[in-house]
Amino acid sequence: MKGSFFSFTSALVCLCAGPTVLRAQSADPTCRYLPGDEGWPSAEEWSQLNASVSGRLIATIPQGHVCHDPTYDASACAELEQMWSLPQSHFDDPSGFMSAYHQNASCDPYTPRNTTCRQGNYVEYAIEVLEAEDVIAGLKFAQEKNVRLVVKNTGHDYLGKSTGKGALSLWMHNLKSISFSNYTSEPYTGPAVKMGAGVQAFELYEAADKMGLQALGGECITVGVAGGYTQGGGHSFLGGKHGMGADQTLEWEVVTANGTLVTATPTQNSDLYWALSGGGGGTYGVVVSLTAKAYLDSIVGGASLAFTDPTIDPDTLWDTIAFFLETGLPAITDAGAHVQWYVAGPVFGVTVATIPGATEDDMREAFAPFTEYLDSHSIAYQMNVTLFPSFLQHADHYSGPLPYGTIPAAQLQGGIFFPRSGVASNGTALISILRNVTTSTNFYIAPYALDVSRAPSSPNAVNPAWRGALAYFMVIQFWNYTVPVSVMHEQERILTEEIMPPLQELGSGAYMNEADVHNPRWREEFYGTNFGKLTEIKKKWDPQDLFYATTAVGSDAWKVGGDGRLCRA
Ligand SMILES: Cc1cc2nc3c(=O)[nH]c(=O)nc-3n(C[C@H](O)[C@H](O)[C@H](O)COP(=O)(O)OP(=O)(O)OC[C@H]3O[C@@H](n4cnc5c(N)ncnc54)[C@H](O)[C@@H]3O)c2cc1C
Ligand SMILES: *[C@@H]1O[C@H](CO)[C@@H](O)[C@H](O)[C@H]1NC(C)=O
Ligand SMILES: *[C@@H]1O[C@H](CO)[C@@H](O)[C@H](O)[C@H]1NC(C)=O
Ligand SMILES: *[C@@H]1O[C@H](CO)[C@@H](O)[C@H](O)[C@H]1NC(C)=O
Ligand SMILES: *[C@@H]1O[C@H](CO)[C@@H](O)[C@H](O)[C@H]1NC(C)=O
Ligand SMILES: *[C@@H]1O[C@H](CO)[C@@H](O)[C@H](O)[C@H]1NC(C)=O
Ligand SMILES: *[C@@H]1O[C@H](CO)[C@@H](O)[C@H](O)[C@H]1NC(C)=O
Ligand SMILES: *[C@@H]1O[C@H](CO)[C@@H](O)[C@H](O)[C@H]1NC(C)=O
Ligand SMILES: *[C@@H]1O[C@H](CO)[C@@H](O)[C@H](O)[C@H]1NC(C)=O
Ligand SMILES: *[C@@H]1O[C@H](CO)[C@@H](O)[C@H](O)[C@H]1NC(C)=O
Repeated sequence: MKGSFFSFTSALVCLCAGPTVLRAQSADPTCRYLPGDEGWPSAEEWSQLNASVSGRLIATIPQGHVCHDPTYDASACAELEQMWSLPQSHFDDPSGFMSAYHQNASCDPYTPRNTTCRQGNYVEYAIEVLEAEDVIAGLKFAQEKNVRLVVKNTGHDYLGKSTGKGALSLWMHNLKSISFSNYTSEPYTGPAVKMGAGVQAFELYEAADKMGLQALGGECITVGVAGGYTQGGGHSFLGGKHGMGADQTLEWEVVTANGTLVTATPTQNSDLYWALSGGGGGTYGVVVSLTAKAYLDSIVGGASLAFTDPTIDPDTLWDTIAFFLETGLPAITDAGAHVQWYVAGPVFGVTVATIPGATEDDMREAFAPFTEYLDSHSIAYQMNVTLFPSFLQHADHYSGPLPYGTIPAAQLQGGIFFPRSGVASNGTALISILRNVTTSTNFYIAPYALDVSRAPSSPNAVNPAWRGALAYFMVIQFWNYTVPVSVMHEQERILTEEIMPPLQELGSGAYMNEADVHNPRWREEFYGTNFGKLTEIKKKWDPQDLFYATTAVGSDAWKVGGDGRLCRA
């Protein structure tokens, strides 16, 4: 398919000009329509859209409706309630998404049966995309009818970027093809995997395993690989050896805002390639497929470690954490590890450290500076070391059980990269802030680290803060669905206004996919020095700002009102 099929005779400009018929409408015409507005498409128009996508238009109903009258279903509701905080409750549903903050209790299993299930921030319609033409039809409709557009893959996005009130969603989840090749290009020759936009990490890992290969995806094995993960950067168990998810990209197939299917590589539409590889999901175009590097599979070493004395003296605990940051951790990441750890109350634990190619002895050696410190200070801990013959088995052990695992998705979080160069001057200040957070708030510390300082084989838009970071310090709290939503909103306010600012003073940026949605410094922190260039590329490929997502490049062209309506800023 080539060329463009429609031209935007600029629905928006025409609306803004305000012909009489439009002036009579209730809604401000510089805003996207919501159901109930006179300008909202008629049933017949939706039906025409449906015909143009082979009947795959879905009038979405939030899943939580089974927990509310008049469609209450006791057993379906009980099942949903049990699983609600897990990704698997949401990614197979056309309008499901995981950000509890944006769910906003409008239709969840925890509010009383007799409260109405409201559409809230759930989209109104979704197109189950099975081919590029479906995307093109959806883009055309959203632009011509002035309806908000959303691109959703799995709905993992913590910042709510894959949902929107009153929106038509392009639901990419069922583009599941996976194929392998020996790829040849100037920057890269070697194994590669081409995946449809809906492929999830567990599917990629299983398919690569069958070929004797390994490939990069999320720690949470249900995250979508070609969607927000790779487009936003993507950190992986294998990243300490192979770099970021976005460093793996070879080719993108993309439908652009004007409805053209293009290929973006380091040499063809190279600006779009550059932006898609780390510059943020849902912003520059709709990805239909991604071709990424793959690697010969290897043994994979793993380790976990946890303190076992709940009465540990707090000063001893924090001196030990300081040693870990200054000496223990750099030794582990220098050995090629991706490391995930946490501090919750008196417990310090490394949940998983991963080094592709490492033996059990290699793992112990990488940890030796830290374990020698623990031994010499008589700090009680338990450590497990693993060696699996393949990456798939490692992922199954630490993130499984396959296929979906049990990592909850409902949380509040903020995060900050701490530069390795800052340890000597600001390490002490960092430790004292983290200590205060764990003692004076309901949040805990869940950082991870990997060394991705090596430049990728093709330049990309990954936030430069990744390359020099000691670690990404996340501050998190699991969402509590049993308290009123206002209580959690207050926790979010505390996060943004009280907890994050002192950390931001010391830090050097944030990971857009695992950040505080209300971070007022999102432009510089999520994109760093790339923000200006990304803005130019956004203007070129999406001049009318059809693609909107919270904190995405170009999102300042829009504002979400108190009623959830998306309006031109
Ligand atoms: C439990 C959990 C664990 C996680 N673990 C990791 C991890 O280990 N490493 C890591 O780096 N991140 C991790 N993340 C964060 C994850 O990378 C982001 O949530 C990411 O946005 C998910 O991408 P998605 O496509 O699956 O999700 P979605 O929510 O569906 O989409 C995310 C964004 O990408 C856009 N998008 C999706 N598909 C397309 C497409 N085809 N074309 C254009 N835009 C698209 C959407 O519009 C949205 O803006 C985790 C998240 C959760 C909830
Ligand atoms: C669509 O956009 C691309 C990139 O800006 C441009 O090359 C192409 O000519 C456009 N097509 C039409 C019909 O506007
Ligand atoms: C679209 O058409 C299909 C097939 O005719 C139908 O099952 C479906 O309900 C329609 N969707 C909408 C939103 O009407
Ligand atoms: C949550 O819902 C309330 C009540 O409908 C609304 O006022 C508020 O703006 C919503 N918040 C978000 C983040 O959607
Ligand atoms: C819902 O039911 C409870 C008792 O079960 C009752 O107190 C409440 O008033 C009802 N709310 C509505 C909106 O009907
Ligand atoms: C790539 O090349 C290797 C070595 O020649 C071969 O064994 C393998 O099957 C090829 N892979 C694919 C997907 O063609
Ligand atoms: C080590 O493994 C044992 C047995 O599986 C488990 O009970 C324990 O929690 C593990 N400890 C750590 C720190 O992973
Ligand atoms: C240390 O923190 C200060 C702010 O408190 C900051 O200005 C400085 O750049 C930081 N130093 C390093 C090396 O990051
Ligand atoms: C949620 O809050 C309630 C009330 O404060 C508390 O009893 C419960 O332990 C909390 N649950 C979680 C998972 O934090
Ligand atoms: C400790 O943290 C709380 C909550 O973020 C904050 O209000 C307080 O100022 C902090 N105290 C110190 C000494 O940093």
